[in-house]
Amino acid sequence: MTTKQRVLLLGATGETGSSILNGLQESGNFDVEVLVRPASVKKPSVQKLQEQGVKIWSIDLDNSTDLTSALTGIDILISAIGPHDLLQQKKLLQTAKNAGVKRIVPCAFITVAPPQGAMLLRDQKEEIYNAIKFLGIPYTVIDVGYWYQISFPSLPSGKVDYATLLPKNVVHGDGTAPNLLIDLRDIGLFVARILCDDRTLNRYVYSFGEVLSENDIYRIVEELSGEKVESTRVSTESIEEAVEKAKAALTLDQEDPMKRIGLYKAQYEYSKYVRQDNTPDYANYLGYLNAQQLYPDFKPRGFREYFTEVMAGTARKVYDS
Ligand SMILES: NC(=O)c1ccc[n+]([C@@H]2O[C@H](COP(=O)([O-])OP(=O)(O)OC[C@H]3O[C@@H](n4cnc5c(N)ncnc54)[C@H](OP(=O)(O)O)[C@@H]3O)[C@@H](O)[C@H]2O)c1
Repeated sequence: MTTKQRVLLLGATGETGSSILNGLQESGNFDVEVLVRPASVKKPSVQKLQEQGVKIWSIDLDNSTDLTSALTGIDILISAIGPHDLLQQKKLLQTAKNAGVKRIVPCAFITVAPPQGAMLLRDQKEEIYNAIKFLGIPYTVIDVGYWYQISFPSLPSGKVDYATLLPKNVVHGDGTAPNLLIDLRDIGLFVARILCDDRTLNRYVYSFGEVLSENDIYRIVEELSGEKVESTRVSTESIEEAVEKAKAALTLDQEDPMKRIGLYKAQYEYSKYVRQDNTPDYANYLGYLNAQQLYPDFKPRGFREYFTEVMAGTARKVYDS
């Protein structure tokens, strides 16, 4: 019998973190403990984990003594911290190194994009990757494409509104830009495989379900729903203008989270549809490993399968706790 790897997971109550927790638990190869901030320990989501018997460490990331206790004996530290708190991860790194953590998985879990300059969100993540490399801690960066859960249009009948986060039927450019996409629930199943695999040490890995364009998505949605889906076309120039406007707005008020989200969103569109970064070709060029090639036995859910659930009324709206 092989010993299970001890994992400490930060962000376990979030969307990505929940998927990772489920995936690791389902694999049976890990003992997962969870790090939460003291202000959140009474939240129902944390209470639920406690009831399931998950070990909870309630620790302020500024408290290095408590962090040392939590990290001692941990094999893998995973962070699925939210997009506004990415730089908080810096507080963990030296302690993780001192405690002898064997692998850090920093919070990546986004689309494939260049290491600097195209997306502020990516730039902040890279700041953490560089800090890890500076300390020489073994790592794996795992990107996942864009979630199916936020990639489908609404229908004239309103039938899928219950599962829609931001109802907006927009097609960018001519709608043909290919994009890596994934079912949020499959992220953890990929992570569980990637973390049992020495080939992924000190590497970037991309996992995904399917590569589809917006035109492909609309075609599948129309076919499965039997409805004609109307959309507004957004030109490349408008996408570029939106990025410049969002940058200017954030410059005026760096601390405003809504302005930051505005820029993240505009730059996602620029990267996905204008630069067309979020593709297997570009990931391969950047030196990523392809998780579908590493684990051919694992069949991730397809978009068609996911949207069939949405049509059946059994999907879950994300961020709807
Ligand atoms: N690929 C995609 O399509 C996609 C979509 C969305 C997000 N993402 C990426 O996925 C990553 C995770 O985002 P998410 O939306 O899944 O997260 P989320 O649902 O917003 O959850 C964030 C988690 O981080 C925890 N957290 C935040 N600050 C913390 C701190 N200082 N100490 C301890 N815990 C802290 C939160 O706990 P509390 O309860 O304490 O707040 C929560 O558990 C992000 O970095 C984002 O870029 C990717």
